[in-house]
Amino acid sequence: MSYRQKHLLAIEGLEPPAIAHLLDLAESYVLLNRSGRTQRDLLRGRTLINLFFEDSTRTRTSFELAGKRLGADVINMSVSTSSVNKGETLLDTAWTLNAMHCDLLVVRHGESGAPALLAQKVDAAVINAGDGTHEHPTQALLDALTIRRRKGRIEGLAVAICGDVLHSRVARSNIHLLTTLGCDVRVVGPATLLPAEVERLGVRAFHDMRAGLEGADIVMMLRLQKERMARGLVPSAREYFRFWGLDAEKLGYAKKDALVMHPGPMNRGVEIDSEVADDPARSVIKEQVEMGVAVRMAVLDTLSRSGRNDA
Ligand code: CP
Repeated sequence: MSYRQKHLLAIEGLEPPAIAHLLDLAESYVLLNRSGRTQRDLLRGRTLINLFFEDSTRTRTSFELAGKRLGADVINMSVSTSSVNKGETLLDTAWTLNAMHCDLLVVRHGESGAPALLAQKVDAAVINAGDGTHEHPTQALLDALTIRRRKGRIEGLAVAICGDVLHSRVARSNIHLLTTLGCDVRVVGPATLLPAEVERLGVRAFHDMRAGLEGADIVMMLRLQKERMARGLVPSAREYFRFWGLDAEKLGYAKKDALVMHPGPMNRGVEIDSEVADDPARSVIKEQVEMGVAVRMAVLDTLSRSGRNDA
């Protein structure tokens, strides 16, 4: 098996064979899920805990579904009703869960690096479900699977990642994955929402939607993350949409068969217009959600085996 790590903490540093292994395995789970069959034996007797310190709809639900489809005992820990509210620290929470012999720990946290810290302290395999502005590795994997299924390849495609790149862990994971697999990656947005020296990650930066989208095979829109934003980085939502929101006119700058992607949740009328978000001929946003379950099954499957092999 070409994926040899105990945890999945980031896309940065993964070699193409490890990414290909996860995507190929996820592909087999897409087919299994569509057939209505399950593989309930693989994780029988294993315990998966979802530990989410930030809100989530897609990631948490799909990890739960993925774990259950593979036969794991799945526990969703509600941080809002846990002893975290009484002042228990992240590490004490992790040690407590560790004492219960959890096998797989899925963590979302507002601080970059929190899952990596936990990975040093617990016996379980830790999966980063999004940490601060750092990474969201399973999102990038499901995006890659969606692209590969629709375009038949990833290498050589032009991908425009648009909007609030500065605060986006989705963007960072996608940049690492797509550049590793040989895409022409552009980041497109106002200067206030692109990280300084972003080109050092191997991408080209554009401050104009027409130039950034020209010739793009994939237009990936990002949510405007107001909750992570200092004041004054963008004008009003209305003005933001006028210059940076994806509508049919701006999509026309990309290739005629360009696909529209968004990790969700969407701010309709802010970074994306409903006309393109809901266009079945161009938008693959719902397909991204479906791929999320398959990718998370592949990750749980892989880590449950690599944990055994590493011992
Ligand atoms: N894309 C994503 O992470 O969505 P959730 O916040 O709903 O999990």
